[in-house]
Amino acid sequence: MTDRSPLRFVVTAGPTREYLDPVRFLSNPSTGRMGFAVARAARAAGHEVTLIAGPVALKTPKGVTRVDVVSARDMLAAVKAAIVPRKGHGQDRTCLVMTAAVADWRPAECAERKRKKGEMADTLKLVRNPDILKTVNEIPAVRRPAVRIGFAAETGEPTSEAARKCREKGLDCVVANDVTAPGAGFGVKTNQVTLVFPDGTIEALPLMSKDAVARRLVRLAANLAERK
Ligand code: C5P
Repeated sequence: MTDRSPLRFVVTAGPTREYLDPVRFLSNPSTGRMGFAVARAARAAGHEVTLIAGPVALKTPKGVTRVDVVSARDMLAAVKAAIVPRKGHGQDRTCLVMTAAVADWRPAECAERKRKKGEMADTLKLVRNPDILKTVNEIPAVRRPAVRIGFAAETGEPTSEAARKCREKGLDCVVANDVTAPGAGFGVKTNQVTLVFPDGTIEALPLMSKDAVARRLVRLAANLAERK
């Protein structure tokens, strides 16, 4: 295929927050840098970009449509809305890149008013959040993004877990990294990632800036879209 027309990128970034009352929440230290870098790189390559961001302190890249969300359930709704097929723009041209560090659990209940210390139990009842990538994978093929890329932040050797996630979530590629390795993970400008593909092949990239990783991923997504 020689069609090099722009793609539609839907990129998620940052953490989600799961409130137990109006002032307390569960979350993680994701800053959103990786996702914002992907959005910027995709836009710079001439693609249309929707960036769905959890609570982060980053500026919206120029030319990118940003949707702010708080919880995992908000993020799921925003992803579903952003990937809806449009006339004249087949799903074969849509790439979903999930860099967001989505909280896996949320408090079973969120109180309307701040919980007083005396009212708080010592244990917090949690329920599972929906898995956004798994939910998207269950959408009929004609309506789901043709290219789906996930991230896997692990502590320790990341590739075997990433291969399992690639299969389980129906992904074209999982970008795996050991968040405890020097120069990788949350809050730093560099990343050292390994690309893991469903057929079991892997490609370990050197330590690079998040911008350089992002450019590599945008090229990969475009190549994958061409082969669909
Ligand atoms: O299973 P794990 O959370 O490590 O998988 C990571 C990948 O799955 C990331 O791309 C993340 O954005 C996505 N994810 C998701 N929904 C969740 C949790 C993670 O789509 N509830």
